[in-house]
Amino acid sequence: MDSERIINGKIFDVWKKDYPLLFNETNPNLSLKNNQKRNCASKRQAQFQLDGYFHEINGVKKFSSEIQQMADFLEYLVIENYSPAFLFATEAPWKLFESLSDLFQETLGSSFGWIPAFWAWYVDPKKKDSGWNTHRDRPRSSLFDDGSPKCLTCWIPLTESSPSNGCIYVVPKQYDNSYGVNPDSVLSIEGYPAIRALPGMPGDAFVWDQTLLHWGARSSEFCERPRLSMALELQRIDIPALQQIVLPSNATPCEADRMRLIGMQILQYEHMYPLDDLTKETAKKIMNYS
Ligand SMILES: [Fe+2]
Repeated sequence: MDSERIINGKIFDVWKKDYPLLFNETNPNLSLKNNQKRNCASKRQAQFQLDGYFHEINGVKKFSSEIQQMADFLEYLVIENYSPAFLFATEAPWKLFESLSDLFQETLGSSFGWIPAFWAWYVDPKKKDSGWNTHRDRPRSSLFDDGSPKCLTCWIPLTESSPSNGCIYVVPKQYDNSYGVNPDSVLSIEGYPAIRALPGMPGDAFVWDQTLLHWGARSSEFCERPRLSMALELQRIDIPALQQIVLPSNATPCEADRMRLIGMQILQYEHMYPLDDLTKETAKKIMNYS
């Protein structure tokens, strides 16, 4: 990791040259507002009501070239020992999530903003890596009394995601005896067949409510390709911030804000990924990035 160039901002010159599809300045396609064809809203919302999630096949398909370059960039980050959170230093992830705004509004029934909570994953089969263990994203504060959601998580695969390379698994809420009842419960189901694998392709998007029980599975060492993905959380804007602040969803954070947010993510997820001294120092410094 070139900590010096991260802190003084010169790393952006390198990244814009090597990964031009990931920045507005070098890729006008990111800012185009052409809407994408959507799957049937009634089926999507019926699944969300019953199961607590939906899978939008080809939801961000129009960004196929950008997704390929995001996967390349994420691989570079991991090889060069940068936190995968630096994927969000580019503008492409923000634009992809923003392009799903119609689905988020449809599901939340309200305008929304981004929660400063995001991450990217490089799940390496060679290391028998896994995603995050069984959890609920925000079990105590994510539902109104009538069960409707205050907030959502959107998870996007950047490479094919399958049971053999560690795709997401969920307990659909209709089979989860502790859903909305016991926030600390990790598995309370009537038999393992209720557990559901959610394989997906690059270009797909998954959206779940933040009480849904889920995890990223462990990959098989016999699988060739790693599972790369990213996620961002969002909430209704007519309720108080669930985590410090709410970021506007219709404007990509500026370069300085993106770096400050990345510093925040690296430190807030330290319990998931213990930090070496250089990464910790760099994260603290970019919290004051200007
Ligand atoms: Fe999660």
